[in-house]
Amino acid sequence: MNGKEQEPWRHRLARSRWARAAALPSRSSTVVRENARLAGISMKWLVQSREHTNFTYDLEPLNREHLAWFVASVTKTDVEAARYAITEIANDRRFHEDLRRAALASPRSGLIDLSARLGRRMGWYAIVRLARPQLVVETGTDKGLGSATLARALQRNGSGQLVTIDTNPAAGSLLNGTDLAQVIIGNSLDILPSLQGEIDLFIHDSLHTRDHELAELAAIEGAISADSIVLSDNSHATDALPVWSQKVGRHFLFFAEKPSDHWYRGGGIGAAFSVGTD
Ligand SMILES: C[S@@+](CC[C@H](N)C(=O)[O-])C[C@H]1O[C@@H](n2cnc3c(N)ncnc32)[C@H](O)[C@@H]1O
Repeated sequence: MNGKEQEPWRHRLARSRWARAAALPSRSSTVVRENARLAGISMKWLVQSREHTNFTYDLEPLNREHLAWFVASVTKTDVEAARYAITEIANDRRFHEDLRRAALASPRSGLIDLSARLGRRMGWYAIVRLARPQLVVETGTDKGLGSATLARALQRNGSGQLVTIDTNPAAGSLLNGTDLAQVIIGNSLDILPSLQGEIDLFIHDSLHTRDHELAELAAIEGAISADSIVLSDNSHATDALPVWSQKVGRHFLFFAEKPSDHWYRGGGIGAAFSVGTD
């Protein structure tokens, strides 16, 4: 049988009700290969990582490039500057050594990976470097990986303060006692209305329910500056930030993380920012 005679037979099969069954071996092998890859990564993580929640990882190189374009859009700056800021924190040896020391000294050191992988927090860093906020408020400190990254950006800017809020009295152990960050212990909904000053950058990363996120956004609405940027660490899971953005007349964008060499599918950064004229 030559190739010309085979073609019509294959075409007929592809159109028939048996097509799916005929393709089963190749479909199965694709699914098995992908699941085996994920199982391998998961086993490696179970053996090597200490983390039990709030997972950390690097981003795929192309995903990092997408992050730079996201940061440039949100801060209305040049993508080269965004790339530079992301590389700056990724290669900041002093920062990474300080984090390692703080992780070793932390009362929860057995549950913290010693090499800090910042993932989407590199975007938070770059936004602070480019937008140069004077008051940054983060809800949800946890160990303080995000807070330490934000504080490092403020330190390099030479101005600005971070207020970070958590219900857990042990939160913020990675912060290294920097005077650029104040950790306030309490429920974000109780603390936010009592904060002084205009908020230039707000990051929701506390209780990840739609209602709590919306309540935090309502609590800061009268306290944010006109050019402020509002970020959510929960926009992969709820529509709270886009709904709020539409209500207050802001743009909304979402950056989706692609973790490198990790079983977790990734979160992202939701951003609400002013439309502006430039
Ligand atoms: C996802 S973690 C924060 C991660 C952190 N921003 C980072 O970059 O690694 C969420 C934190 O929110 C805190 N939390 C939960 N409910 C809260 C509330 N109502 N007010 C303030 N913090 C809360 C938890 O104790 C937890 O430490």
